[in-house]
Amino acid sequence: MTAAHKGPVAVVTGGSQGIGQAVTDRLTRDGVTVEVFDIGCEAAVDVTDPNAVAAAVSRIVRCHRRIDILVNNVGIFPHAAFDELDFGAWRRVLATNLDSVFVCSKAVYPWMKQRRYGRIINVSSSAFFVGDFDLTHYAASKGGIIGFTRSLAKGAGRHGITVNSVAPGFIETPGVLASPEERALFDDIVSEQSIPRRGKPEDVAACVSYLASPEASFITGQLINVDGGHRFI
Ligand code: NAI
Repeated sequence: MTAAHKGPVAVVTGGSQGIGQAVTDRLTRDGVTVEVFDIGCEAAVDVTDPNAVAAAVSRIVRCHRRIDILVNNVGIFPHAAFDELDFGAWRRVLATNLDSVFVCSKAVYPWMKQRRYGRIINVSSSAFFVGDFDLTHYAASKGGIIGFTRSLAKGAGRHGITVNSVAPGFIETPGVLASPEERALFDDIVSEQSIPRRGKPEDVAACVSYLASPEASFITGQLINVDGGHRFI
């Protein structure tokens, strides 16, 4: 954990690779001190474990005395047709993608409220708008994030806290490239986009950077698609 300084402090979940890593790099360039919660890094924090998250948040607050930004980015996307999907696989996706948003938001919210400032950005997915028989669990988790974002935004605004979602389209990340099902979809989706190129983690990070900035103080409860103009909502 880095030493205390006066600038803003962010927690980025799943910040070791892909979109989370690009967000971490971008916020760092913006002058933010970033703490990563990821099972893939040395000081692994599993965001499905409320005790581990609470302990990590306490450590950050002890060190920095503040948490200004939370980016709930962790997500898994295992494909399974509904006929094959069992309750265990359903629960694993919901726990990782949606419960973690509750757990991490719940842990940082009191500190943001105390300082009357906060930016919470939740990473949803264009899969919620498209629908996929192989991704019922994933789409349910990502739709849940949008409802959660709007509802939390309603009460958080009066405390200076904004809550927004971003919905990436197809983005070239290690998670996507490791999945044969995801890789197979890539070229078709690119050809349907208004901007026909592969999305990059940095495209999403740029949007998160804006929503995380003090300038975005009048934007809350919103969802921004970062998908090269694939779907319009
Ligand atoms: P990725 O698989 O490349 O990286 C995910 C990171 O989350 C990894 O570093 C992993 O170690 C970490 N992680 C997984 N489970 C964790 C846990 N329980 N606790 C802590 N860390 C955990 O994923 P990618 O592609 O960068 O996706 C990031 C987010 O963006 C996800 O929520 C995903 O659903 C969403 N998204 C991605 C799209 C894409 O095309 N890449 C499209 C739409 C949404």
